[in-house]
Amino acid sequence: MMNLFDVYPRFDIALTHANGVNVYDDKGQEYLDLYGGHGVISIGHSHPTYTQKLKQQIDAIGFYSNSIEMPIQIELAEKLAQQSGYSGHQLFLCNSGAEANENAIKLASFYTNKKKVLAFKGAFHGRTAAALNITDNATLSARINKKNFPVEFIALNSKCQLTNALKDEDVCAVIVEGIQGVGGLDAPTVEYLLFLSKICKEYGALLILDEIQSGFGRSGKFFAHQYADIEADIITMAKGMGNGFPIGGILIHPKIEAKPGMLGTTFGGNHLACAAGIAVLETIKNENLMENANELSNYLKAALKEIPGIKNIKGKGLMLGVELDFSIKEIRTKLLNKHYIFTGASANPNLLRILPPLGITKTQVEPFITALKKILS
Ligand SMILES: Cc1ncc(COP(=O)(O)O)c(C=O)c1O
Repeated sequence: MMNLFDVYPRFDIALTHANGVNVYDDKGQEYLDLYGGHGVISIGHSHPTYTQKLKQQIDAIGFYSNSIEMPIQIELAEKLAQQSGYSGHQLFLCNSGAEANENAIKLASFYTNKKKVLAFKGAFHGRTAAALNITDNATLSARINKKNFPVEFIALNSKCQLTNALKDEDVCAVIVEGIQGVGGLDAPTVEYLLFLSKICKEYGALLILDEIQSGFGRSGKFFAHQYADIEADIITMAKGMGNGFPIGGILIHPKIEAKPGMLGTTFGGNHLACAAGIAVLETIKNENLMENANELSNYLKAALKEIPGIKNIKGKGLMLGVELDFSIKEIRTKLLNKHYIFTGASANPNLLRILPPLGITKTQVEPFITALKKILS
Protein backbone atom coordinates (compact mmCIF):
# COMPACT_ATOMS: atom_id res chain seq x y z
CA MET A 1 0.00 0.00 0.00
CA MET A 2 1.23 3.49 -0.77
CA ASN A 3 1.04 5.87 2.19
CA LEU A 4 0.11 9.50 1.79
CA PHE A 5 2.93 11.86 2.76
CA ASP A 6 1.58 12.74 6.16
CA VAL A 7 1.89 16.54 6.34
CA TYR A 8 -1.72 17.52 7.06
CA PRO A 9 -3.49 17.35 10.42
CA ARG A 10 -6.89 16.04 9.29
CA PHE A 11 -10.38 15.79 10.77
CA ASP A 12 -11.82 12.29 10.74
CA ILE A 13 -14.40 13.27 8.12
CA ALA A 14 -14.71 12.28 4.44
CA LEU A 15 -16.97 14.51 2.36
CA THR A 16 -18.91 13.05 -0.52
CA HIS A 17 -20.98 15.95 -1.80
CA ALA A 18 -21.82 19.60 -1.25
CA ASN A 19 -24.41 22.23 -2.05
CA GLY A 20 -24.26 25.97 -1.39
CA VAL A 21 -23.18 26.49 2.24
CA ASN A 22 -23.45 22.80 3.12
CA VAL A 23 -21.17 19.80 2.77
CA TYR A 24 -22.15 16.17 3.45
CA ASP A 25 -20.07 13.27 4.72
CA ASP A 26 -20.11 9.61 3.75
CA LYS A 27 -22.53 8.87 6.59
CA GLY A 28 -25.05 11.40 5.28
CA GLN A 29 -24.32 14.01 7.97
CA GLU A 30 -24.87 17.61 6.84
CA TYR A 31 -22.37 20.32 7.89
CA LEU A 32 -22.53 24.10 7.68
CA ASP A 33 -19.36 25.25 5.94
CA LEU A 34 -18.11 28.52 7.41
CA TYR A 35 -14.55 27.92 6.22
CA GLY A 36 -14.71 26.92 2.55
CA GLY A 37 -11.57 24.79 2.68
CA HIS A 38 -9.23 27.68 3.58
CA GLY A 39 -11.37 30.49 2.13
CA VAL A 40 -11.72 29.00 -1.34
CA ILE A 41 -15.48 28.63 -1.76
CA SER A 42 -16.71 32.04 -2.90
CA ILE A 43 -19.98 31.53 -4.82
CA GLY A 44 -20.97 28.37 -2.93
CA HIS A 45 -20.36 24.66 -3.29
CA SER A 46 -21.54 23.09 -6.55
CA HIS A 47 -23.16 26.32 -7.68
CA PRO A 48 -25.33 25.53 -10.76
CA THR A 49 -23.65 28.20 -12.95
CA TYR A 50 -20.28 26.80 -11.97
CA THR A 51 -21.06 23.11 -12.51
CA GLN A 52 -22.83 23.83 -15.79
CA LYS A 53 -19.98 25.96 -17.19
CA LEU A 54 -17.36 23.40 -16.19
CA LYS A 55 -19.34 20.50 -17.61
CA GLN A 56 -19.90 22.31 -20.90
CA GLN A 57 -16.24 23.23 -21.07
CA ILE A 58 -14.92 19.74 -20.40
CA ASP A 59 -17.22 18.35 -23.07
CA ALA A 60 -15.82 20.90 -25.53
CA ILE A 61 -12.09 21.06 -24.63
CA GLY A 62 -10.56 20.81 -21.16
CA PHE A 63 -6.99 21.81 -21.81
CA TYR A 64 -4.49 23.14 -24.22
CA SER A 65 -1.31 25.02 -23.38
CA ASN A 66 -0.54 28.70 -23.95
CA SER A 67 0.94 27.99 -27.37
CA ILE A 68 -2.41 28.77 -29.04
CA GLU A 69 -4.95 31.61 -29.00
CA MET A 70 -7.16 31.50 -25.90
CA PRO A 71 -10.37 33.51 -26.38
CA ILE A 72 -11.64 32.19 -23.04
CA GLN A 73 -8.71 33.95 -21.27
CA ILE A 74 -9.74 37.19 -22.98
CA GLU A 75 -13.34 36.68 -21.85
CA LEU A 76 -12.12 36.19 -18.27
CA ALA A 77 -9.87 39.27 -18.52
CA GLU A 78 -12.76 41.40 -19.81
CA LYS A 79 -15.00 40.37 -16.97
CA LEU A 80 -12.20 41.04 -14.49
CA ALA A 81 -11.62 44.46 -16.03
CA GLN A 82 -15.30 45.35 -15.55
CA GLN A 83 -15.64 44.03 -12.03
CA SER A 84 -12.27 44.58 -10.36
CA GLY A 85 -11.78 48.32 -10.93
CA TYR A 86 -8.42 47.52 -12.58
CA SER A 87 -9.40 47.81 -16.23
CA GLY A 88 -6.01 49.24 -17.25
CA HIS A 89 -3.96 46.40 -15.72
CA GLN A 90 -2.82 43.29 -17.61
CA LEU A 91 -3.67 39.72 -16.57
CA PHE A 92 -1.31 36.77 -16.19
CA LEU A 93 -2.89 33.45 -15.21
CA CYS A 94 -1.31 30.72 -13.09
CA ASN A 95 -2.49 27.92 -10.82
CA SER A 96 -2.19 28.81 -7.13
CA GLY A 97 -1.63 31.57 -4.63
CA ALA A 98 2.03 30.84 -4.02
CA GLU A 99 2.68 30.82 -7.74
CA ALA A 100 0.91 34.16 -8.14
CA ASN A 101 3.16 35.72 -5.48
CA GLU A 102 6.25 34.06 -6.91
CA ASN A 103 5.50 35.65 -10.29
CA ALA A 104 4.64 39.01 -8.74
CA ILE A 105 8.00 39.23 -6.96
CA LYS A 106 9.87 38.10 -10.01
CA LEU A 107 8.16 40.77 -12.12
CA ALA A 108 8.96 43.47 -9.55
CA SER A 109 12.60 42.43 -9.69
CA PHE A 110 12.61 42.35 -13.50
CA TYR A 111 11.00 45.77 -13.66
CA THR A 112 13.13 47.58 -11.07
CA ASN A 113 16.29 45.50 -11.52
CA LYS A 114 16.47 45.38 -7.70
CA LYS A 115 16.09 42.41 -5.41
CA LYS A 116 15.04 43.14 -1.82
CA VAL A 117 11.44 42.61 -0.70
CA LEU A 118 9.73 44.27 2.25
CA ALA A 119 6.99 42.14 3.80
CA PHE A 120 5.04 42.38 7.06
CA LYS A 121 5.12 40.65 10.42
CA GLY A 122 2.47 37.93 10.47
CA ALA A 123 2.43 37.65 6.67
CA PHE A 124 1.63 34.42 4.86
CA HIS A 125 2.32 34.38 1.13
CA GLY A 126 2.72 30.67 0.30
CA ARG A 127 5.16 27.78 0.38
CA THR A 128 7.20 27.98 -2.83
CA ALA A 129 10.74 29.39 -2.64
CA ALA A 130 10.31 33.16 -2.86
CA ALA A 131 6.78 33.16 -1.40
CA LEU A 132 8.03 31.25 1.63
CA ASN A 133 10.95 33.61 2.13
CA ILE A 134 8.56 36.54 2.43
CA THR A 135 6.27 34.56 4.77
CA ASP A 136 6.80 35.43 8.43
CA ASN A 137 7.10 31.86 9.72
CA ALA A 138 10.64 30.50 9.85
CA THR A 139 9.45 27.04 10.92
CA LEU A 140 8.11 26.37 7.40
CA SER A 141 11.48 26.99 5.74
CA ALA A 142 14.18 24.48 4.86
CA ARG A 143 17.81 25.59 4.87
CA ILE A 144 17.70 26.17 1.14
CA ASN A 145 14.89 28.73 1.58
CA LYS A 146 16.61 30.69 4.29
CA LYS A 147 19.82 31.14 2.34
CA ASN A 148 20.43 34.87 2.17
CA PHE A 149 17.06 35.80 0.68
CA PRO A 150 16.86 39.60 0.74
CA VAL A 151 13.74 40.25 2.81
CA GLU A 152 12.88 42.48 5.77
CA PHE A 153 9.75 42.15 7.88
CA ILE A 154 8.09 45.40 8.98
CA ALA A 155 5.52 45.77 11.77
CA LEU A 156 2.11 46.18 10.11
CA ASN A 157 1.01 49.83 10.07
CA SER A 158 4.43 51.15 11.16
CA LYS A 159 5.26 54.13 8.98
CA CYS A 160 8.63 54.71 10.50
CA GLN A 161 9.91 51.13 10.01
CA LEU A 162 8.74 51.17 6.42
CA THR A 163 10.37 54.51 5.67
CA ASN A 164 13.67 53.34 7.15
CA ALA A 165 13.58 50.04 5.26
CA LEU A 166 12.88 51.79 1.96
CA LYS A 167 16.11 53.79 2.35
CA ASP A 168 17.89 50.63 1.24
CA GLU A 169 18.18 51.32 -2.46
CA ASP A 170 17.84 47.67 -3.44
CA VAL A 171 14.12 47.31 -2.59
CA CYS A 172 12.10 46.07 -5.59
CA ALA A 173 8.75 45.62 -3.86
CA VAL A 174 6.63 45.93 -0.76
CA ILE A 175 4.08 43.11 -0.45
CA VAL A 176 1.09 43.26 1.86
CA GLU A 177 -2.09 41.21 2.31
CA GLY A 178 -5.36 43.11 1.90
CA ILE A 179 -6.32 41.48 5.19
CA GLN A 180 -3.97 38.96 6.80
CA GLY A 181 -5.57 35.51 6.71
CA VAL A 182 -3.31 32.91 8.27
CA GLY A 183 -1.76 35.62 10.48
CA GLY A 184 -5.10 36.32 12.19
CA LEU A 185 -7.10 39.06 10.45
CA ASP A 186 -4.85 42.06 11.08
CA ALA A 187 -4.95 44.51 8.18
CA PRO A 188 -3.27 47.65 6.91
CA THR A 189 -5.45 50.64 7.81
CA VAL A 190 -6.83 52.87 5.06
CA GLU A 191 -4.40 55.58 6.15
CA TYR A 192 -1.49 53.14 6.01
CA LEU A 193 -2.44 51.95 2.52
CA LEU A 194 -2.46 55.56 1.33
CA PHE A 195 0.96 56.06 2.90
CA LEU A 196 2.26 52.80 1.42
CA SER A 197 1.12 53.74 -2.05
CA LYS A 198 2.73 57.19 -1.82
CA ILE A 199 6.04 56.12 -0.32
CA CYS A 200 6.49 53.18 -2.71
CA LYS A 201 6.20 55.62 -5.61
CA GLU A 202 8.66 57.98 -3.92
CA TYR A 203 11.29 55.26 -3.53
CA GLY A 204 10.61 53.46 -6.83
CA ALA A 205 9.48 50.20 -5.22
CA LEU A 206 6.45 48.35 -6.58
CA LEU A 207 3.44 47.86 -4.32
CA ILE A 208 2.14 44.28 -4.44
CA LEU A 209 -1.23 43.57 -2.86
CA ASP A 210 -1.75 39.93 -1.95
CA GLU A 211 -5.52 39.53 -2.34
CA ILE A 212 -5.35 35.77 -2.59
CA GLN A 213 -7.59 35.29 0.42
CA SER A 214 -9.17 38.73 0.80
CA GLY A 215 -10.00 39.26 -2.89
CA PHE A 216 -12.89 38.36 -5.18
CA GLY A 217 -15.54 40.08 -3.09
CA ARG A 218 -14.64 38.38 0.19
CA SER A 219 -14.11 41.69 2.04
CA GLY A 220 -17.26 43.34 0.65
CA LYS A 221 -15.18 45.21 -1.96
CA PHE A 222 -13.73 43.39 -4.97
CA PHE A 223 -10.29 43.70 -3.35
CA ALA A 224 -9.89 44.52 0.34
CA HIS A 225 -7.33 47.28 -0.36
CA GLN A 226 -10.03 49.15 -2.30
CA TYR A 227 -11.36 50.45 1.01
CA ALA A 228 -8.52 52.93 0.39
CA ASP A 229 -8.41 55.00 -2.77
CA ILE A 230 -5.15 53.54 -4.07
CA GLU A 231 -3.93 51.64 -7.09
CA ALA A 232 -1.55 48.74 -6.55
CA ASP A 233 1.15 47.96 -9.10
CA ILE A 234 0.54 44.22 -8.90
CA ILE A 235 -2.38 42.34 -7.33
CA THR A 236 -2.19 38.61 -6.67
CA MET A 237 -5.31 36.40 -6.70
CA ALA A 238 -6.28 32.75 -6.22
CA LYS A 239 -8.62 30.94 -3.74
CA GLY A 240 -12.09 32.45 -4.36
CA MET A 241 -11.19 33.13 -7.99
CA GLY A 242 -12.00 29.53 -8.97
CA ASN A 243 -14.43 28.48 -6.20
CA GLY A 244 -12.34 25.32 -5.81
CA PHE A 245 -10.96 24.90 -9.30
CA PRO A 246 -7.19 25.59 -9.08
CA ILE A 247 -6.56 28.98 -10.65
CA GLY A 248 -4.42 31.95 -9.69
CA GLY A 249 -3.58 35.18 -11.39
CA ILE A 250 -1.82 38.49 -11.19
CA LEU A 251 -2.97 41.91 -12.33
CA ILE A 252 -0.05 43.91 -13.67
CA HIS A 253 0.28 47.69 -14.09
CA PRO A 254 0.53 48.75 -17.76
CA LYS A 255 3.95 50.35 -17.12
CA ILE A 256 5.35 46.82 -16.74
CA GLU A 257 5.99 45.64 -20.25
CA ALA A 258 5.72 41.96 -21.11
CA LYS A 259 8.59 40.23 -22.86
CA PRO A 260 8.30 36.71 -24.29
CA GLY A 261 9.38 34.13 -21.74
CA MET A 262 9.35 36.58 -18.82
CA LEU A 263 6.71 34.45 -17.03
CA GLY A 264 5.22 31.13 -18.02
CA THR A 265 3.35 28.02 -16.94
CA THR A 266 1.98 24.92 -18.63
CA PHE A 267 -1.38 24.74 -16.91
CA GLY A 268 -1.98 28.43 -16.15
CA GLY A 269 -5.09 29.84 -17.80
CA ASN A 270 -6.29 26.51 -19.20
CA HIS A 271 -9.82 26.26 -20.58
CA LEU A 272 -11.34 24.63 -17.51
CA ALA A 273 -9.74 27.06 -15.06
CA CYS A 274 -10.99 30.01 -17.11
CA ALA A 275 -14.51 28.53 -17.25
CA ALA A 276 -14.44 28.32 -13.45
CA GLY A 277 -13.17 31.91 -13.14
CA ILE A 278 -15.86 33.20 -15.51
CA ALA A 279 -18.61 31.35 -13.59
CA VAL A 280 -17.36 32.96 -10.36
CA LEU A 281 -17.32 36.49 -11.79
CA GLU A 282 -20.76 36.10 -13.39
CA THR A 283 -22.24 34.83 -10.15
CA ILE A 284 -20.63 37.53 -8.00
CA LYS A 285 -22.30 40.07 -10.29
CA ASN A 286 -25.66 38.39 -10.93
CA GLU A 287 -26.26 37.48 -7.30
CA ASN A 288 -24.89 40.73 -5.83
CA LEU A 289 -22.55 38.72 -3.65
CA MET A 290 -20.42 41.68 -2.56
CA GLU A 291 -23.52 43.46 -1.23
CA ASN A 292 -24.55 40.26 0.51
CA ALA A 293 -21.08 39.90 2.04
CA ASN A 294 -21.43 43.39 3.51
CA GLU A 295 -24.95 42.86 4.76
CA LEU A 296 -24.21 39.50 6.33
CA SER A 297 -20.99 40.86 7.79
CA ASN A 298 -22.90 43.59 9.62
CA TYR A 299 -25.53 41.10 10.74
CA LEU A 300 -22.96 38.59 12.00
CA LYS A 301 -20.86 41.24 13.75
CA ALA A 302 -23.92 42.64 15.53
CA ALA A 303 -25.09 39.19 16.63
CA LEU A 304 -21.61 38.14 17.78
CA LYS A 305 -21.17 41.33 19.79
CA GLU A 306 -24.14 40.27 21.93
CA ILE A 307 -22.46 37.03 22.97
CA PRO A 308 -20.70 37.32 26.33
CA GLY A 309 -17.13 36.00 26.23
CA ILE A 310 -16.27 37.31 22.76
CA LYS A 311 -13.42 39.79 23.15
CA ASN A 312 -13.14 41.19 19.67
CA ILE A 313 -14.43 40.73 16.12
CA LYS A 314 -11.87 41.37 13.39
CA GLY A 315 -11.97 41.58 9.62
CA LYS A 316 -14.23 42.88 6.88
CA GLY A 317 -17.04 41.43 4.81
CA LEU A 318 -17.14 37.68 5.16
CA MET A 319 -13.50 37.40 6.18
CA LEU A 320 -14.00 37.55 9.92
CA GLY A 321 -12.12 36.59 13.07
CA VAL A 322 -13.82 35.97 16.41
CA GLU A 323 -11.30 36.61 19.17
CA LEU A 324 -11.60 35.17 22.66
CA ASP A 325 -9.50 35.50 25.81
CA PHE A 326 -8.44 31.87 25.55
CA SER A 327 -7.62 29.20 22.95
CA ILE A 328 -10.38 28.41 20.44
CA LYS A 329 -9.12 24.84 19.98
CA GLU A 330 -11.83 23.16 22.03
CA ILE A 331 -14.57 25.44 20.72
CA ARG A 332 -13.64 24.69 17.14
CA THR A 333 -13.74 20.95 17.83
CA LYS A 334 -17.15 21.27 19.53
CA LEU A 335 -18.52 23.34 16.67
CA LEU A 336 -17.48 20.61 14.27
CA ASN A 337 -18.27 17.45 16.20
CA LYS A 338 -21.39 18.52 18.08
CA HIS A 339 -22.88 21.25 15.93
CA TYR A 340 -21.52 20.14 12.53
CA ILE A 341 -20.06 23.52 11.65
CA PHE A 342 -16.69 23.99 9.93
CA THR A 343 -14.66 27.04 11.06
CA GLY A 344 -10.97 27.91 10.76
CA ALA A 345 -7.97 28.61 12.99
CA SER A 346 -5.03 30.99 12.50
CA ALA A 347 -1.61 31.86 13.90
CA ASN A 348 -3.46 33.56 16.76
CA PRO A 349 -4.54 30.64 18.98
CA ASN A 350 -7.46 32.67 20.39
CA LEU A 351 -9.01 33.53 17.04
CA LEU A 352 -11.74 31.59 15.24
CA ARG A 353 -11.73 32.24 11.50
CA ILE A 354 -14.99 32.58 9.54
CA LEU A 355 -14.89 32.44 5.72
CA PRO A 356 -18.34 31.33 4.51
CA PRO A 357 -19.58 31.32 0.91
CA LEU A 358 -20.43 34.92 -0.04
CA GLY A 359 -24.11 34.15 -0.67
CA ILE A 360 -24.83 32.86 2.83
CA THR A 361 -28.14 34.04 4.34
CA LYS A 362 -29.17 35.18 7.82
CA THR A 363 -31.10 31.95 8.36
CA GLN A 364 -28.06 29.92 7.35
CA VAL A 365 -25.71 31.62 9.87
CA GLU A 366 -28.22 31.27 12.72
CA PRO A 367 -27.08 27.77 13.81
CA PHE A 368 -23.54 29.14 14.24
CA ILE A 369 -24.68 32.02 16.45
CA THR A 370 -26.82 29.67 18.55
CA ALA A 371 -24.03 27.11 18.87
CA LEU A 372 -21.43 29.70 19.87
CA LYS A 373 -23.80 31.16 22.49
CA LYS A 374 -24.37 27.71 23.92
CA ILE A 375 -20.68 26.75 23.99
CA LEU A 376 -19.61 30.06 25.57
CA SER A 377 -22.38 30.14 28.24
C1 LIG B 1 -2.78 35.62 1.66
C2 LIG B 1 -2.30 34.32 1.07
N1 LIG B 1 -1.34 34.34 0.14
C3 LIG B 1 -0.91 33.21 -0.43
C4 LIG B 1 -1.41 31.97 -0.07
C5 LIG B 1 -0.89 30.73 -0.74
O1 LIG B 1 -1.85 30.21 -1.60
P1 LIG B 1 -1.75 28.71 -2.13
O2 LIG B 1 -1.99 27.81 -0.96
O3 LIG B 1 -2.83 28.62 -3.18
O4 LIG B 1 -0.39 28.54 -2.71
C6 LIG B 1 -2.39 31.91 0.91
C7 LIG B 1 -2.93 30.61 1.35
O5 LIG B 1 -3.47 30.45 2.42
C8 LIG B 1 -2.86 33.11 1.50
O6 LIG B 1 -3.81 33.11 2.45
